Amino acid sequence: MIITIDGPIATGKSTIAKTLAEEIGFIYFDTGAMFRSLTYAILKENVDYKDAETIKNFLEKFDFDIIIDHGEKHYYINKEDVTKKLRTQKVTTLVSEISALGPVREKLMEIQREFAIGVNAVFEGRDMGSTVFPDAEYKIFLTGRPEVRARRRFEEMMEKYPEESQNLTFEKMLEEINRRDTFDSTRKISPLRQAEDAFVIDTSDITIEEVVFKILEYKDTTSTVRE
Ligand code: DC
Repeated sequence: MIITIDGPIATGKSTIAKTLAEEIGFIYFDTGAMFRSLTYAILKENVDYKDAETIKNFLEKFDFDIIIDHGEKHYYINKEDVTKKLRTQKVTTLVSEISALGPVREKLMEIQREFAIGVNAVFEGRDMGSTVFPDAEYKIFLTGRPEVRARRRFEEMMEKYPEESQNLTFEKMLEEINRRDTFDSTRKISPLRQAEDAFVIDTSDITIEEVVFKILEYKDTTSTVRE
């Protein structure tokens, strides 16, 4: 069974998807981390991603894997553990542009669908319910006011990456969130979009636990209706 959770940045998607997956014994896939891994590799190898032929060749030999070690997920690109490099400012700045490229989306969609074969999983991202898994059993779409999301992400960055965040302000974060939201939802291929049959939850004024509870409630009531 596949459950998809989509929505813009800092709606609590990752924590919610992870908590939900743990609660019901499903595997959890953070597809943003996949786009970030690929972006990191492009930066590291200095790939001319604007050139169609170059990106095609790069994607053909792109070797991606996820390994779970002591319960923690590690992302590997060409046998290098890139997990700790995924949230750096450089990767964050470029990832929207990279994830708007058609061949990149096709390649990652192929990998995501392969990961989904024969497992019970929660897939979290931007287009999981609308494009990658249109037949998913349950689709959730999370929303939230930009100011609330910017505050959350700002506090998270200050706590987790204090050195990198020295010049960061709430205003800059809000600007960055609005920029990425616009970019992700207006790109030509597979934009951030709510699937028509998704269950929508505004996470601005409720806790992670309350959101997970709402999803579980929704899952239980719809499965009764479906039976
Ligand atoms: O969730 P995140 O911030 O780690 O995602 C990083 C970027 O990847 C984000 O700018 C949008 C993109 N992304 C996407 O285009 N499709 C997905 N399914 C997941 C993420």
